[in-house]
Amino acid sequence: MKITLIGFMGVGKSTVAKVLSQKLQIPYVEMDELIIKKSNKKSINEIFKHHGELEFRELEIEVSKDLKNSSNIIISSGGGVVMNKINIDYLKHNGLVIQLDGNFETIVKRIGNVEDRPLFKNKQSAKSLYNFRKSLYARYADHSISTDNLTVDEVVTHLIKTINEYLSKN
Ligand code: S3P
Repeated sequence: MKITLIGFMGVGKSTVAKVLSQKLQIPYVEMDELIIKKSNKKSINEIFKHHGELEFRELEIEVSKDLKNSSNIIISSGGGVVMNKINIDYLKHNGLVIQLDGNFETIVKRIGNVEDRPLFKNKQSAKSLYNFRKSLYARYADHSISTDNLTVDEVVTHLIKTINEYLSKN
């Protein structure tokens, strides 16, 4: 079983992945952390600052490829994973891609650390990016969960139901 969570920055992918991982007793990984490891840099900011977004996206593709054949894992992706469709192809290989959706205002309320989110430093440009990507998440996900009025536990319960339905059909 390989479950990837996609969705905009701040929607709650990491928080939900952690709880889901505890409930299902399977490990989870953060794509951003794997990207940082691969880059030999200390942070996402440092990669963006010294090498630019393009280099970051290339590392993101490499990490998606590394995860292609993983199983028994929950993957929390970065919000920009939908910018290159090849990432989705790798992540969907023997796996399920689920979108955590939320409206922009919810995201602004939830977002924690904007300091290491180079693409969320300016709220206006983050909003444009959100509008641009919205349809991509929906198009690529096998399933989408609207998280606006749900607690983390409710999202996780919903996810487990979705995963069980998927497993019973596959
Ligand atoms: C990005 C989202 C970030 C991180 C990088 C780029 C994006 O991940 O990968 O800053 O393009 O939306 P989170 O979604 O975990 O913040």
